[in-house]
Amino acid sequence: MSSNSEREQWGSRIGLILAVAGNAVGLGNFLRFPVQAAQNGGGAFMIPYFIFFILLGIPLMWIEWGIGRHGGKHRHGSAPGMFDVIWKNSMAKYFGAIGLLISMIIMIYYTYITSWTLGFSFFSISKTYFGLTDFEQMKSFLYSYQGREVSQYFNGITFAYIMLLITFIMTFWVLFKGISRGIEKLAKIAMPMLFIFAVIIAIRVLTLGTPDPSIPENSISQGLGFIWNPDLSQLSNPQIWLAAAGQIFFTLSVGMGTIQAYASYLKPKDDIALSGLTTAATNEFAEVVLGGSIAIPIAVAFFGVSMTTQMALGGSFDLGFASLPLVFQQLPFGQFFGFMWFLLLFFAGITSSVAMGQPVISFLEDEFGMDRKKAVGIISAVVFISVHFVVFFLKYGFLDELDFWAGTFGLVVFALIETILFIWVFGADKAWAEINEGADIKIPRIFFFIMKYITPSILITITAWWLINSAIPQLLLTNAAEENVPYIWGARIFMIVIAAGLFLMVKTAWKKNEA
Ligand code: PHE
Repeated sequence: MSSNSEREQWGSRIGLILAVAGNAVGLGNFLRFPVQAAQNGGGAFMIPYFIFFILLGIPLMWIEWGIGRHGGKHRHGSAPGMFDVIWKNSMAKYFGAIGLLISMIIMIYYTYITSWTLGFSFFSISKTYFGLTDFEQMKSFLYSYQGREVSQYFNGITFAYIMLLITFIMTFWVLFKGISRGIEKLAKIAMPMLFIFAVIIAIRVLTLGTPDPSIPENSISQGLGFIWNPDLSQLSNPQIWLAAAGQIFFTLSVGMGTIQAYASYLKPKDDIALSGLTTAATNEFAEVVLGGSIAIPIAVAFFGVSMTTQMALGGSFDLGFASLPLVFQQLPFGQFFGFMWFLLLFFAGITSSVAMGQPVISFLEDEFGMDRKKAVGIISAVVFISVHFVVFFLKYGFLDELDFWAGTFGLVVFALIETILFIWVFGADKAWAEINEGADIKIPRIFFFIMKYITPSILITITAWWLINSAIPQLLLTNAAEENVPYIWGARIFMIVIAAGLFLMVKTAWKKNEA
């Protein structure tokens, strides 16, 4: 172990907050959130969304910052070591390995999606897609860029592949530079730019009014109403509640170990209560205020409510990649707005991608005593090889399968495990004391009660609901398209292989460190 060398640290508080905000603010805020809202009843979605923000999001933030800073005191930056410290049981480290698995799997596909935004920022500034005037054409442009279909727009995926290489190299370069010289520095540049771009675009959108006066019902205010007017009858649909909980997890980056990894580089007495709350609030501002003011209102103003809902049903990303470019073409200086939109997505994506890489790097450094260069070398090789499956099997649902198990299901399961371990096994009083140590604010005592009873109950309910209602068809692929089935099983086998590798490494590391 490299126990005589200094553990890395964040350079400044503002840098740390920007880095964690960079972790949380991602494609989820600007692409996934509007689509989830549109698919799940618009305004009705926001009610469970806010309820879960209070009952799951904020408590889990504090729990993860607490677990992370505590683990850091024991020189552990990843979940296997952190769980081992809070639960004296030989199984603990293997539960922690689930966190490594989730962050690695998400990183593999997230890097690819992030690279599309880079490609589309070039297409905007160079007006490549200008002239494609309907949704079908734009979708075909997107799909052929991704290699999902053949069209006159692209000859294969060479360009997409180059964008992927650039994104990949940048991500691992930042990780190679380390916590304060890499991740923190990136966040200090990318996050302010992201917010400036987002505010400019949001203002432009909100001042659009009624783009086509002959269709007065298609307007920005109509679009805002679509998000904000709740249809209360929808609240009896459990699907909406599940979707809201899933979005809270994804957007806050909780349930996988990236927040914990970042928090492990704090000093033992650094505040986490206020920092945790600040980053959660920053994320919500970026999501609800900025994310909510761009894609949906603009799509409604130009295409109407029913078309917008239809586009949203086409998949998590169509709305951002296929519908907004149509709108940019109709705006004065549209190429610049398009460029800003996709570049802001790129910043959002890359600051999240680096977060997903950090837990495994910390794991190799802390538990195997590797230096950062070697750790980054190993992880980048694994991610690079793996991403090819995502690229080449995209149209067969490979990415979606990874996204379901890691990005949706896995987060809930891991959050349940960590909550039980920290609050119930480590002990609620000790956990509460850990969270409040060095705190710059006084957390209302009611959150003690929420963390102890409400958060775990909700997590158990969600898991049970899924097991009862969807587990069988989901596992047996009852609803999957015939030709996708082998690839979906391939995705599952792939995840099992990565899992096995990680479990084995955890086992080896502990054997070695006990010897
Ligand atoms: N929170 C990020 C987003 O909104 C995604 C993410 C999930 C990042 C998990 C890190 C860990 O896009």
